[in-house]
Amino acid sequence: MTTREEIVALDKALVWHPYTPMRKYIDEVDPVVVERAEGIYLHDKNGARLIDGNGSWWVSVLGHGHPRLVAALTRQAAAFAHTSLAGATHEPAVRLAEALLPRCGPSYTRVFYSDDGSTAVEVAVRMAVQYWRLRGRPRRNRLVSLSGAFHGETLGAASVSDAGVFHDALGPLLFDCIRLPAPALAGRWYDRAFAQTEEILRQRADEVAAVIVEPLVQGAAGMLMHPPEYLARLGALCRELDVLLVADEVFVGYGRTGSFLASHQAAIEPDIVCLAKGFSGGMLPMAATVTTDRVFSEFLGGPERTLWYGHSFTGNPLGAAVALEVLKVLDDERLIEGLPPKCEALRRGLDRVSGHPWVHDARRTGLIGAFTLAHPESGSANANYLDDAGWRFHAEARKRGALLRPLGNVIYFVLPLNVAAPQIDELFAIVQESLEAAFG
Ligand SMILES: Cc1ncc(COP(=O)(O)O)c(C=O)c1O
Repeated sequence: MTTREEIVALDKALVWHPYTPMRKYIDEVDPVVVERAEGIYLHDKNGARLIDGNGSWWVSVLGHGHPRLVAALTRQAAAFAHTSLAGATHEPAVRLAEALLPRCGPSYTRVFYSDDGSTAVEVAVRMAVQYWRLRGRPRRNRLVSLSGAFHGETLGAASVSDAGVFHDALGPLLFDCIRLPAPALAGRWYDRAFAQTEEILRQRADEVAAVIVEPLVQGAAGMLMHPPEYLARLGALCRELDVLLVADEVFVGYGRTGSFLASHQAAIEPDIVCLAKGFSGGMLPMAATVTTDRVFSEFLGGPERTLWYGHSFTGNPLGAAVALEVLKVLDDERLIEGLPPKCEALRRGLDRVSGHPWVHDARRTGLIGAFTLAHPESGSANANYLDDAGWRFHAEARKRGALLRPLGNVIYFVLPLNVAAPQIDELFAIVQESLEAAFG
């Protein structure tokens, strides 16, 4: 059997890690070496048990190893693992569409499958721009997004993002977007942010294909939260100006904010919805871009009306079978209905640590919680990706049994919907001790 040391040595010699300064990683980091995982726990090969406090980059919506997802995957693998979705189809793809669309809302009639959050957004961007060409309005080709937005890593998804250090190296490869002030960045004065948004959109609607937004929580920007009212007003404005609205629900969808889609809390139906991460229960890369007849019907016609897009694994049967099972588990275990006591435990935990002098701006939307670390005398608690306070905290939390990879100085909690309230209390006992160990 390969030892832990051998795995780490091979890893450091051969593997290039995502979003990782590799010199420091190779010289200094002792990575977690996961041997198995169940529920909210990851087990390191060295015997340590760690709470997966960030849900493995926000994908683990039903925890690790849910037996029904494992069974769905195994059943489908025994039948067939893959076929292209061009000129062929299969039951998992159609049953998933049938179950998914009504859950998103009555206006949704079509789903385009892809591989991950970035491709779900890439599809949305292309759909929106081509939609206006097909309607004979090619000048409507600009995308509009929020300051601090993160929508993924394909060049289209990176262009609509505003992720500073992540995308600086891409320079001229990215296309220009119109930026709106982020509602939570403007000192929570989402009214003021909305007033500026309205001014920009009213002036420029004629050149805009779509506005893209992360509803309720801008994740990678530092878990910046805005109220449903902002979203409702943005939705109404887009309708009035005849601008498409794209909801990037890659992170916030699937119950995380307390409703199946975050957009549901604002009672809006965006024209295009992007889903990934929790969509396939964190088991397989699989994503969907969902839209309405208004958009889809423009694409009915010959080659010039075709969405020339796809990937080898588009509509992968394994991913589709698991994604369908995720929807059934959400229903059968009444997970979204059962969220309130868990959200309450998260609120309790955040209240408990809020008294620590380094903890600022403890915040929560549904089952997503966060706080910002800042020196008690610094006077400012802005999210800062290059601040190392989060990493000091991370090291202490890992020693105590929780894996909490920070976003710079922002510590956040993304737990599966089937977490038990006492497990949240267990996590916050670790958070409290880690804060004291790291900052006194
Ligand atoms: C809101 C949002 N959109 C898109 C993406 C990209 O998803 P993926 O990493 O699966 O490509 C992310 C990833 O964190 C995200 O948070």
